Formats: sequence, C-alpha cells, structure tokens
Amino acid sequence: MNYRHQYHAGNFADVMKHVMLVRLFAALQRKEKGFLYLDTHAGRGSYDLAAAAKGDSLVREPEHPLGIGRLWDRSDFPEEIAAYVGLVRSFDRERGNLGGPPRFYPGSPWIARRLARPQDRIVLCERHEGEAELLDIEFGRESRVRVEAMDGYGAPRAMLPPIERRALVLIDPPFESEDEFARIATAVGEGLARLPSAVFAIWYPLTERARVDAFFSELLALKLPPALELELTVAGERSVRKLKGCGVVVINPPWGFEAQAARILDWLAPVLAQEPGGSGRIRWLVPGK
Ligand SMILES: C[S@@+](CC[C@H](N)C(=O)[O-])C[C@H]1O[C@@H](n2cnc3c(N)ncnc32)[C@H](O)[C@@H]1O
Repeated sequence: MNYRHQYHAGNFADVMKHVMLVRLFAALQRKEKGFLYLDTHAGRGSYDLAAAAKGDSLVREPEHPLGIGRLWDRSDFPEEIAAYVGLVRSFDRERGNLGGPPRFYPGSPWIARRLARPQDRIVLCERHEGEAELLDIEFGRESRVRVEAMDGYGAPRAMLPPIERRALVLIDPPFESEDEFARIATAVGEGLARLPSAVFAIWYPLTERARVDAFFSELLALKLPPALELELTVAGERSVRKLKGCGVVVINPPWGFEAQAARILDWLAPVLAQEPGGSGRIRWLVPGK
C-alpha cells in the first residue's frame, strides 16, 4: 500500500468527485429522515496542500493548481458547484489560511462532516495504519462519526443495512492493484443485497478505456438498479498522459440528480481541461424509471 492521497488532494479528480458528493448529500437531505454516510476508502480526512509538493524524499509537482486552484478565484459557478467551493473556502480559512491560493483541503470525511445533520451518521473506513490514525485524531471524539481501521471492501457487508434504512456509500479506492475493479463489484453486490435502495458513488480513473468497459460489464452482471455514469476527461483519448480523466458511477441516483450532474460537467469540463479534447459525458448504465 504505497498510495498517499496527500499528493493528489485537490486535483481535478477530487474536484469532480467532491462536487458530486456535495450534491448527493443535498439530494438525500431533501428527506427529513437521517441516513448513514459510509466512506469505504476515507483517506486521512484533510490535507495540507503545501506539504503535497514536498513528496516523500523528492520535490513533486503539486496537482491541486490544476484542480481546486482553477476554481479558487472564480465566482461564476452554477449553484451546483458554489456550495462545494464555499465549503472548501471556509474549511481553508478556518484551518488558518489567511489568503492567497488554497492551503487546506477537506477530504471526503470532512466534506461529509460539514454537511451531516444531527440525524445523519458517518462511518469512515481506512486500511492504512498511519492514515487511519490521522483520521482518528480528526474525528475520534465526534459522537456521530465512527472511524474503522479496516478493509473498506468489507464495509458494505458489515455496515448495511443501517438502522436508518437509508445510506450513501462512497467507494474511492487508490487503484493500486489489479483486482480493484473486481473487489468494487463484489462489495457493491453485497451492499445492494442488504440494502437495495442504497445510493452508491464509485470513483474510477480513466487510464484504459477497455478496463473501464470491463468494469461496467461486471457491474451490469449484478442486475443493478438505475445507475448513471459520469465522466470528466481533461485530455482527448489520443493523449499520451496516463490519467486522461475520471468517472463516478452513481447507483440509485436521487431524483433530479442527472440534470444537476450534467450542468456540473458542462461547467467543469472547459475549466479543468489540460489538453484539447477534455469533455464531460453523462449516460445511463441502467436507465432510471
Ligand atoms: C483515493 S484515497 C481516498 C480519498 C478520500 N475518499 C477523499 O475523497 O478525500 C484512497 C484511500 O484508500 C486507502 N485504502 C487502500 N486500500 C484500502 C482498503 N482495502 N480499505 C480501506 N482503505 C484503503 C488508502 O490508504 C487511501 O487513503
């Protein structure tokens, strides 16, 4: 396990994923009844972007200037994105940044914590010992948040169905090993068997189109409920860059989410593009009713 999200925090993929996460929270909170937010691969919870450039031993090119950095000084956001930027800006300020470029970036755990109502609960899973310790320091005393130093792929099986009978599950692995897509499919199948109405958001990298198509076939074999596929590319298919974009599959998308996601991708695609050919795409993997 070599992956550290520290080096990628606030990059274009985080922006896309976290904007969608904020929207999903808002959609689930249209109902008064609380829900469980389950983060299977939580990371350390928050990131100091200044440290990201230092690397383990060598200076690294930070990724956040091409992500949150591209949004930082703008104000022309559609409302679907404004809530995310407002949350990141206030987090950054409260952690001590007094101005200039962004310095402190909230990971998905802090985004969820900021958005959760008293009736919502949060479970954060992280398998890397050091990252889980940092997560525990951030959230250990919070009564509504539980930190589990465990294999997140086992979490849908272990945590669903929750007492609330409502859940939003973020699956956001590092994609370090070959079997990552297969493990996601297994975890989703186990989760849906326990709570068929659970909303899943699954992040994936767009490095090889064929691998992603094979993943969709694995998901479709589960006889999924309605599922939307959202993709953001920052470069065209012929680009030599390894990570050409990323996607989020949303299973059981809330009512109205498709139109919001389309507006988000339309706005983000030109702002986050790094080479010609960057674009947004949205399609139903399994059509909604
Ligand atoms: C992409 S990062 C998560 C970022 C976080 N969700 C966010 O949006 O801020 C993936 C994390 O998964 C952790 N990890 C790797 N394998 C895991 C596993 N099997 N179970 C739980 N966590 C794992 C890594 O240590 C890393 O912190």
